Amino acid sequence: MSSLPRCACPVPEREAGPRSAGAADSPALAALHAQAFPPGERWGDDALRLLLEMPGAYALLVPEKGFVMARVAADEAEILTLAVAPPARRQGVGGTLLAAALGRALAAGAATMFLEVSEANTAARALYAAAGFTGSGRRRRYYADGSDALVLSRRLCGS
Ligand SMILES: CC(C)(COP(=O)(O)OP(=O)(O)OC[C@H]1O[C@@H](n2cnc3c(N)ncnc32)[C@H](O)[C@@H]1OP(=O)(O)O)[C@@H](O)C(=O)NCCC(=O)NCCS
Repeated sequence: MSSLPRCACPVPEREAGPRSAGAADSPALAALHAQAFPPGERWGDDALRLLLEMPGAYALLVPEKGFVMARVAADEAEILTLAVAPPARRQGVGGTLLAAALGRALAAGAATMFLEVSEANTAARALYAAAGFTGSGRRRRYYADGSDALVLSRRLCGS
């Protein structure tokens, strides 16, 4: 990881706050993931439950609209997935979930949040840029469609 962005506060939340999601929510998370991603990239109920059981993992849910899953390990955090159902898009849900995930990571002691996004994913790249993420690296031909993954990162307040 080379250049890290300067510290910036989490973006303002524009929706009612997401709630924490647990293992019992994994079917709802899987249903949202299936709406948000193409068939080859969908994460099932069992996979999501296993991810949630990893140390430091958490999920935040806006019921029937979207969720974010992330993980904190020592002073680094990582967005594992972010999914908003198509009918709920461009209403601030994704930004609200991202802000909540950043806030949770900061509270858990993380100093930097990382994520990977396809270079071809213009919507997600715009969302992350608006939230203060900048480029930290690139993984060539990382995705099944041959697109590169951009590694983005953002310093968290208080670090
Ligand atoms: C990317 C995604 C999470 C965005 O969710 P969302 O709820 O629509 O995002 P928001 O409404 O909070 O958008 C916040 C900002 O992001 C940017 N943005 C979001 N979608 C955009 C799009 N389609 N085109 C351009 N900019 C976009 C805009 O700057 C937007 O602010 P604005 O609406 O005031 O212009 C959603 O499109 C999604 O689930 N996509 C499929 C799954 C995915 O790609 N997840 C990320 C994987 S890394």
